[in-house]
Amino acid sequence: MRLVLLGAPGSGKGTQAARLKEHLQVPHISTGDLLRAEVAAGSKLGLEAKEVMARGELVSDAILLGMLEDRLSRPDTANGFILDGYPRNLAQADALDALLKRIGQPMEYAVQLEVPTELLVERIAGRAAAEGRADDNPESVRKRLEVYDSQTAPVIEFYRQHGQLTVVDGVGALDEVFHRLVEALSPTADVG
Ligand code: AP5
Ligand code: MG
Repeated sequence: MRLVLLGAPGSGKGTQAARLKEHLQVPHISTGDLLRAEVAAGSKLGLEAKEVMARGELVSDAILLGMLEDRLSRPDTANGFILDGYPRNLAQADALDALLKRIGQPMEYAVQLEVPTELLVERIAGRAAAEGRADDNPESVRKRLEVYDSQTAPVIEFYRQHGQLTVVDGVGALDEVFHRLVEALSPTADVG
C-alpha cells in the first residue's frame, strides 16, 4: 500500500506511522527523520539543513526531492510505503506525483490527521520536555505551525481534488486513533 500521512506538526504522523508500518508491512519514510539523521551524521546535507530546521522553516525542495528519490529507489518500497512529512508544499506535491507516475507507483491513499492547534502545542511541549528536539522550542513551533498553514495546508486540497483524501480525527488515545486509521484504509472506506 502506498500511503501519505498528512497533518500539522504534533498531529501524530510519526507515532501512528510507527504502528501502521507493522500492520501494513511497508516501510515508514519520514523526511524529518531522514534529515535529522543527516544532521546527526554531520554530512554536507545535514550541515545545510541544520539551521533551517532549527528555525522551523522548510529545507529546499531540491534537497528533499533528491533524498526522497534515493529512498524510494530502495527495494524495501516494492510493496509500498508510508510517507510522513512530504509533500509539504504544492511544488513538492507535483514533484512527488510526477516521480511516482514515472516509477509506476501512484499514490493510493492520503490521510490527514486532524488535531486542534491548542492540542498540537501541548503535545509538542510534552515532547520538548521528554526528547529535546532542536525545533520543539516555542518560537520554532510557532514558525512550523505558520509554515504548515501557509504552505502545507494547500497540499491537503491537492489530494482532496485528486479524490484521494480521507480525514481522520487525530484526537484521542493512541489505540483509538490507530483503529480509525486502519478503518480509513480498509477497502470499503469512503474517500471524501
Ligand atoms: P518533521 O520531522 O516532519 O516534523 P513536523 O511535521 O513538524 O511534525 P512532528 O514530527 O513534530 O509531528 P508528528 O505529526 O510526527 O507528531 P508525533 O507523532 O511526533 O519535520 C521537521 C523539520 O524538517 C521541518 O520543520 C523542516 O525543517 C524539515 N523538513 C521535513 N520534511 C520536509 C520537507 N518535505 N520539505 C522541507 N523541509 C522538510 O507526535 C507529537 C507528540 O505528540 C509526541 O510526543 C507523541 O508522543 C504525542 N502524541 C502523538 N499522538 C498522540 C495522541 N493520540 N495522544 C497524546 N499524545 C500523542
Ligand atoms: Mg514526526
